[in-house]
Amino acid sequence: MPKMQPKLDRLLRASLRVFSPYRAGTSADEARRRYGFEEPVKLSQNENPLGSSPRALEAVRSITILSDYDEDEHSALRARLAAPYGLAVENVVLGHGSNELVQLAFTAFVDPGDDVVFAKPSFSLFRKDAQVAGARSIEVPLRDGVHDLEAMLAAVTPKTKLVFVCDPNNPTGTRVARADFFAFADALAPDVLLVIDQAYREFADAAATDGVELLRRRPATLVLRTVSKIYGLAAVRFGYGIGSPQIAAWLDRVRLPFNVSRPAAVAVLAALDDTDFVDRSLANNERGKAQLMEAFDRLGLHAYPSAANFVAVAVPTQADTAYEALLARGVIVRSGDSLGMPGRLRVTIGTPQENAAFIGALEKLLPEWRAAPLETAGR
Ligand SMILES: Cc1ncc(COP(=O)(O)O)c(C=O)c1O
Repeated sequence: MPKMQPKLDRLLRASLRVFSPYRAGTSADEARRRYGFEEPVKLSQNENPLGSSPRALEAVRSITILSDYDEDEHSALRARLAAPYGLAVENVVLGHGSNELVQLAFTAFVDPGDDVVFAKPSFSLFRKDAQVAGARSIEVPLRDGVHDLEAMLAAVTPKTKLVFVCDPNNPTGTRVARADFFAFADALAPDVLLVIDQAYREFADAAATDGVELLRRRPATLVLRTVSKIYGLAAVRFGYGIGSPQIAAWLDRVRLPFNVSRPAAVAVLAALDDTDFVDRSLANNERGKAQLMEAFDRLGLHAYPSAANFVAVAVPTQADTAYEALLARGVIVRSGDSLGMPGRLRVTIGTPQENAAFIGALEKLLPEWRAAPLETAGR
């Protein structure tokens, strides 16, 4: 007779009982397996379509030893990250991807029952990490795809510890207006931590706000950056936070020892000087954005103005339907249904060829979708 399975439900924390894990976009492998495409067009994870910084790859190849623990403080790297702002090593805290820093902010600052405020839809990890922490998420709807900063300010309670502003915002790609951002930062209570997730900052226009400008106005500000996007280094898992020495030290206190691997540190130090790769990536993004926006205009599809390396476009059918139909044609995008953005797709800006493949597939599918429109379709 099989052994009785012990009942383990009591082990799991109550706050995690209704919990859905983070879902990454469909992988190229899955598209290959399901539909047999040799080379699916992957526009689903906001990766760099030009690959990785060549300098970073070369630096990783030059590593000759991995048997020892690396240094834990990474002072040279932190100094390098702080330098463009005239800041110091103490202002920078490193993470295993900027995702880890979001989690560290919860670990360091949020007790069960505290409140956190963020936009809806925004980056899904804010809600997930709040759930893990047993915090209450106060989600403030975007207005026309943009953070409604006035409403977010009004949503802050005496129990609020963290307010997240994702700028540019994932999944809409929008950014907030500079004057609004400054007014918001000035009005926010000085003992609430403003976490500005700027994973896509490098793709934004010159008038966009650099979170560090706000850090200079209010010390309870933490700016999160990543090398996963513009430097094409998502696989090394490296992100960093810029904050006051006090906030940075508190986050540093709760991170795992050696959370930044040697390959990551080596790659990042090299990538930061790879201005050629950054310039090429930006130029490709600008060109691709124009290519996609022109096509959306021509096809009568609404897209939010994007300050990032992806666009959120409305489709005249259910987002999941559109996602599946595109996948069946070898183009992988993200369905807005899984991102709190029904009726829209989130599409990474690819190479000119990848964008053209997406536009071509879209054009073929549109008549079908338009013949049977659904109420939940985007506008
Ligand atoms: C808003 C936002 N923050 C952070 C990240 C992830 O950054 P990292 O790869 O550094 O963990 C992403 C990635 O998709 C993102 O969209």
